[in-house]
Amino acid sequence: MTKLSEMLTETTGFLKEKGIGQVDFGLILGSGLGELADEIENAIAIPFSEVPHFAVSAVVGHAGKLVYGTLSGKKVLALQGRFHYYEGHSMQTVTYPVRMMAAIGAHSIIVTNAAGGVNESFTPGNLMLITDHINFTGDNPLIGENDDDMGPRFPDMSHAYTPSYAEAVRKVAKEQNVPLQEGVYMGFSGPTYETPAEIRMARTMGADAVGMSTVSEVIVAAHSGLNVLGISCITNLAAGMQSTLNHAEVVETTERVKGQFKELVKASLAAL
Ligand code: HPA
Repeated sequence: MTKLSEMLTETTGFLKEKGIGQVDFGLILGSGLGELADEIENAIAIPFSEVPHFAVSAVVGHAGKLVYGTLSGKKVLALQGRFHYYEGHSMQTVTYPVRMMAAIGAHSIIVTNAAGGVNESFTPGNLMLITDHINFTGDNPLIGENDDDMGPRFPDMSHAYTPSYAEAVRKVAKEQNVPLQEGVYMGFSGPTYETPAEIRMARTMGADAVGMSTVSEVIVAAHSGLNVLGISCITNLAAGMQSTLNHAEVVETTERVKGQFKELVKASLAAL
């Protein structure tokens, strides 16, 4: 056994002892969507700090616990908060929860985040279905020795965001009358917001939104053979498209649209 698989055995063993059974969907709840975990029925909540091999997250708006139970009739394990590369964690630490989801038996993950809108037709408060990403973090969680039991050395990223899930969510959004944008999420390391020049570059490269999470998690999900649904909340227009950027605005927008965001994720979960 490699070190990573030993760590995962320890983590999943601990979670099973805590009463976590079958898991269908892993949920990674970004800024503003953490409250969705409060709607999980028959919940078992475990602070990240108690989970073997989890790091501790400290960003405002990220509570940092695992919540297990039933949501929209599905067995879910939710991450209320996540680990970010800009906190100083390695890519392996950032993506360990995704490894854990696969190890405990999840077949899919739903990842959500707050993102800056690069596409000029977006407005703050829009929800965006992520159809693809650009990893611009300068790092990759799969760098290093590959454990062939976990996934291939050179994973195919052609369909990292599961097309049938995207199709299901488009349908759900239409039924719910929720306007749903879609596009490419470009992941930067942060913690600075981008410069206006970087945003012009991002747009030229084909990005519709920018953010500081998600891409590494989705790379590990692809490596692990997990299906992925990704949804961004466009909290602001990216640098150079509005006068200034700040975290307070990001939080404010997620607060404003979290009702719609939660309903979309719950209805999507029911439909998948
Ligand atoms: N850039 C990067 N990350 C973000 C932004 C942004 O404009 N808004 C919310 N998260």
